[in-house]
Amino acid sequence: MEILPEIAKRVSVRDFQDREVPGDVLERILEAGRLAPSAKNRQPWRFVAVTDPEKRKLLEKASFGQEHVGSAPVVVACCTTNIEYRMPNGQLSYPIDISLAASFMMLQAVREGLGTCIVTTYDETQAREIITVPFSMRVVLLLALGYGKEKEAGLRERLPLSRVSSIDHW
Ligand SMILES: Cc1cc2nc3c(=O)[nH]c(=O)nc-3n(C[C@H](O)[C@H](O)[C@H](O)COP(=O)(O)O)c2cc1C
Repeated sequence: MEILPEIAKRVSVRDFQDREVPGDVLERILEAGRLAPSAKNRQPWRFVAVTDPEKRKLLEKASFGQEHVGSAPVVVACCTTNIEYRMPNGQLSYPIDISLAASFMMLQAVREGLGTCIVTTYDETQAREIITVPFSMRVVLLLALGYGKEKEAGLRERLPLSRVSSIDHW
């Protein structure tokens, strides 16, 4: 089955080289997030790329000591600029919008030869303070990114397609 190589290759990377991410590479990754779809095209996001080592260390602490948060050369804090908009189906749009943007960024990162890891295990109040998120906005997820070390864990197992999909009925 032919699947986009970026999708097929992507795994969560938690072991990063001590190597900077060039500015143009980071810009393309952020641009991929910018191009993601969002409900009503509201684009309710702000991507704060944290490169400052002190701030990354603080984010590591806020993430209950997850070392990959401190060791990744860039942590993109994916934040909301609107937390209220509900779609006609009654669901909040921002978790979906921001997740899609993060997916696009992850795939662009693979294309650029980088590894990523989504991190949601953090104290949001602390994370907000570190990157000065305005009152009432939220830090939805952190995307740690950088060049992975040579030895990566293999692909994670997934449930078989027959178990997670069906046609015309549940
Ligand atoms: C919503 C979400 C939250 C996650 N939170 C964390 C986290 O806090 N820390 C972490 O190391 N990985 C986190 N992950 C990464 C998952 O553990 C990982 O995607 C999953 O085990 C599948 O592995 P793979 O990404 O290598 O395919 C998260 C992933 C998602 C999608």
